[in-house]
Amino acid sequence: MTYTEKDSKYRRYTVTSALPYANGPVHIGHLAGVYVPADVYVRYLRAQGEDVIFIGGSDEHGVPITIKARKEGVTPQDIVDRYHSIIKESFAGLGISFDIYSRTSCEEHHRTASEYFSKLYNEGKFIEKESEQYYDEEAGQFLADRYITGTCPHCGNEHAYGDQCEACGTSLAATDLINPKSALSGSKPVLKTTKHWFLPLDKDEPWLRQWILEGHKGDWKVNVYGQCKSWIDAGLQPRAVTRDLEWGVKVPVEGADGKVLYVWFDAPIGYISFTKQLKGDDWERWWKADDTKLVHFIGKDNIVFHCIIFPSMLHADGSYILPANVPANEFLNLEGDKISTSRNWAVWAHEYLADFPGKQDVLRYTLCSNTPETKDNDFTWKDFQLKNNSELVAILGNFVNRTLVLTQKFYGGAVPAIGDMGGEEKELAQEIATYPERIGRSIETYRFREALSEMMNLARLGNKYLTDTEPWKLIKNDPARTATVMNLSLQICANLAILCEPFLPFTATKMRRMLCMEGMPLRWTDAGSVALLREGHTTSTPELLFEKIEDTAIQAQVDRLARTKEQNEQAAWRPAEVKPSVTIDDFGRMDIRVGTIEECAKVPKADKLLRFLINDGMGKRTIVSGIAKYYPDPAALVGRQVCFIANFPPRKLKGVESQGMILSAEDKDGRLVLLQPSDLVAPGCSVG
Ligand code: MF3
Ligand code: ZN
Repeated sequence: MTYTEKDSKYRRYTVTSALPYANGPVHIGHLAGVYVPADVYVRYLRAQGEDVIFIGGSDEHGVPITIKARKEGVTPQDIVDRYHSIIKESFAGLGISFDIYSRTSCEEHHRTASEYFSKLYNEGKFIEKESEQYYDEEAGQFLADRYITGTCPHCGNEHAYGDQCEACGTSLAATDLINPKSALSGSKPVLKTTKHWFLPLDKDEPWLRQWILEGHKGDWKVNVYGQCKSWIDAGLQPRAVTRDLEWGVKVPVEGADGKVLYVWFDAPIGYISFTKQLKGDDWERWWKADDTKLVHFIGKDNIVFHCIIFPSMLHADGSYILPANVPANEFLNLEGDKISTSRNWAVWAHEYLADFPGKQDVLRYTLCSNTPETKDNDFTWKDFQLKNNSELVAILGNFVNRTLVLTQKFYGGAVPAIGDMGGEEKELAQEIATYPERIGRSIETYRFREALSEMMNLARLGNKYLTDTEPWKLIKNDPARTATVMNLSLQICANLAILCEPFLPFTATKMRRMLCMEGMPLRWTDAGSVALLREGHTTSTPELLFEKIEDTAIQAQVDRLARTKEQNEQAAWRPAEVKPSVTIDDFGRMDIRVGTIEECAKVPKADKLLRFLINDGMGKRTIVSGIAKYYPDPAALVGRQVCFIANFPPRKLKGVESQGMILSAEDKDGRLVLLQPSDLVAPGCSVG
């Protein structure tokens, strides 16, 4: 039973989560935007006793995968095998409870996608069109999507792709790019005629407009609705659903050799093929019955595909239901910067699991409380530590622990009699009764942060009750009231064991074990009661639910990111642009000489400066240079030769007169390196 659809027509739920590309591991951005919310939603529905399937899998086609394979000198299959298993394990490790996690390279998927295309093809649902596409003459290959890069006509980003500019988010056609370049050979591509099949989205506009803009106004999230509206208002164009590529689902049409289905045509069909794998002959109910609720969990970059293109594919077939909702989230940033796979700016799920064993729920909690529901959000390690230490440990963990420890101490672990409830207790019981619906409504309306904070409010309520009643003191003079307090506190724990499960499944399991609730078939709607645990029911020895995360563990993560940032800066380094022309006379006015270092020492009270005494062939001169940081042992420089500008006017630096300037090169990390002639020369000779 759900709260927002009490008399609704839905009898089962098909919940999908975007199929991650198998060209890299998953990171916290994927988890916060898609998989944690989807998992909370399905766990909740299961606790409600609903019939639900949760579908996931890897998206194993598309150009980035073949580009990566080429770069590494392996096959695309090698790439997807590697990442499919990493991704699958990460999800399992974090308790993302898919009913099936499959992959689009599998046979069942190829067959299903191919049949889907054939049916529409045979019914004349596609337009067949010849058009000019970029072709790489060196590589002898058409350049689809990401095989082509160039300058974005909208924002000027020089690294836009043939299908999209990641800087401004605009979706592009390869022929829109300024200065197109082949990602294969770097050469300038030529246009060549090729035949493709198009989905005539323009014809879908009327029903899409009605279905989304009228039918789902106010019920779909504003960010989702807004994106759909601007796509529809801009006028929909026919979309090519095939590509000239080798890797993918072959186009099942005679004479279409060397062509595959566009990755965004085959991937969403994955939801259907995986349902077939899961349900066998029974699969159709999950996709074709009007009493099935279809919900797609995705990130904002997937909105058009799930709200417009895939629905128009489903509509073209005619026998499918359409999504009832597409609760897309915005993006999560990391420490103030956009998460990026190529720049390694991410917290990777598999690395988190290795670095923080047993702390799956801490990540789930932090991500859920930071779900980028209405705007982009930020993950910081400091916040992660704070959420653990001052919420999970201090509120939920502390309440459950205090309750169970006192129960052991006072009653040997047995639940005491509830006795007479006073006014305060009656109010508390009424308050507890409101939680299942409060949390449930928030989940049903995809407000996961709110749902999570309501769950924590119940723990807060319990904590406050203990603090107010002080059973550890009360026991001395009012054992009967103490029993009531402890009974109610235990009931709150039992409620929390049910209500925290969608968010914190590992913790819920521990709580059920400690409360000896494993055998009880408890559903969401059983919560709200203060009679979950009977008098005399025994609880077992308490163990801590959460432990404090120390500064050192956080610092290690922050340091790792700092190293990544430095590596990225160095990788992005390019020599400075050449300055405007000068004449030989300009250069000739500069008097550059070689000198030999006779003394070298730090300038007192100036940590950056070194004082050089230089034999310049005419006498000695003193030069001060700001390179102390790079030469920690100045005495070791004595005897070396350096180049310096001899005709700079003298100037005082920290009280020392400097008579010239020593030349050095600035390396890409900012390090200064002294210039030295490659052979010993006479001090005072000119450089030119
Ligand atoms: N692989 C896509 C992405 O990561 C998502 C595909 S979702 C599906 O953006 F609908 F195509 F399955
Ligand atoms: Zn752009």
